[in-house]
Amino acid sequence: MEQIIIELLDVKVLILILTTIVFIVFIIKSYRYYSYPSYLNIHQFHRLYCQRIDDKEKCPFIPIDMFHRCENTHQYHTKSDLDCVLIYEYIQDFLCQNNEYINRSGPVCPFVPVAFKQKTIYFFISNDEYTNKTRFIQMIEQCKNDFLCKLQPVNATKSKLVYKCLLILIRSLNIPHNLIDEIQTELKPTFIIQHGLMFGEFHQSSNSNAIRNENFYPFRTRTPLLVIRYMVANDLIFLNQKHKYSVDVRLQMINKYLNLYHSGLLYRSKVEHLQSAHDILAELNFSVKESIVPITDIHLN
Ligand SMILES: *[C@@H]1O[C@H](CO)[C@@H](O)[C@H](O)[C@H]1NC(C)=O
Ligand SMILES: *[C@@H]1O[C@H](CO)[C@@H](O)[C@H](O)[C@H]1NC(C)=O
Ligand SMILES: *[C@@H]1O[C@H](CO)[C@@H](O)[C@H](O)[C@H]1NC(C)=O
Ligand SMILES: *[C@@H]1O[C@H](CO)[C@@H](O)[C@H](O)[C@H]1NC(C)=O
Repeated sequence: MEQIIIELLDVKVLILILTTIVFIVFIIKSYRYYSYPSYLNIHQFHRLYCQRIDDKEKCPFIPIDMFHRCENTHQYHTKSDLDCVLIYEYIQDFLCQNNEYINRSGPVCPFVPVAFKQKTIYFFISNDEYTNKTRFIQMIEQCKNDFLCKLQPVNATKSKLVYKCLLILIRSLNIPHNLIDEIQTELKPTFIIQHGLMFGEFHQSSNSNAIRNENFYPFRTRTPLLVIRYMVANDLIFLNQKHKYSVDVRLQMINKYLNLYHSGLLYRSKVEHLQSAHDILAELNFSVKESIVPITDIHLN
């Protein structure tokens, strides 16, 4: 009898201990969850992920080759403690600076220095929870909605909104660079046509060249990333990529561009932009007509 009571007590104690452990784990997990917001602005990002390793000795700057085409884009990201620091450096020491190879004056990305000051550069850090394409695309859709409706400023003039951008850092080990390109190419038209947003990709195997220098590849970062931002007038050149999109998709993107232009929602637009957009539209209209003719010919034969 006594034996049974002691055993029962033991079981109770065991259950109590287990419950306590589960409870403590839950508290720690939720503390970590709530203390790290999903989106960080660049100052929070620096404070949380970059300050500890600010010591340059511990962080040797290894330059990336930006002058040769990359033949193998099927590479994967190798996770490192420096992932965040290196992105911060890329923004501060490359994008915000002048660079002779971009072949024009001013910072590599003219919007970044202002965005930096206004704290409107945001980060979302994706880790191994995004393991396949479907899951990855869901995450991007969520980021897009939050970019539009949650990240500040939301209700502002276009001259404020253009300085907002969201960088999705891709630290997942199972998303190769060519899959990032594939996803970017697939999603970009919807971003543009539905929301007037641009969607760009950066990674170490990027073969996108500078606008004014075709032998310079400035979109190469150690940690792969995707960027969401509002479209500006100078983005016209990214809307007519013949090797990537069908005539129909390009027509829709140009039409969206013209809509934004006429609604006064295209930042820094000039008459030249309108002219160029109409030239592209005319060319695309011509291609549509041309592509219809051979099909009728085939049917007639
Ligand atoms: C992708 O991952 C999710 C969650 O990890 C899983 O439910 C889903 O079945 C996976 N999809 C494919 C195509 O592997
Ligand atoms: C933005 O402004 C519109 C109209 O002025 C208002 O209906 C909406 O609630 C505002 N949204 C936010 C997030 O402030
Ligand atoms: C720089 O731009 C000029 C004018 O657009 C062009 O003629 C020249 O070839 C460019 N240089 C390089 C290195 O691409
Ligand atoms: C292109 O074609 C459409 C209809 O076919 C027409 O409405 C539009 O004016 C044309 N645009 C140009 C620039 O030719």
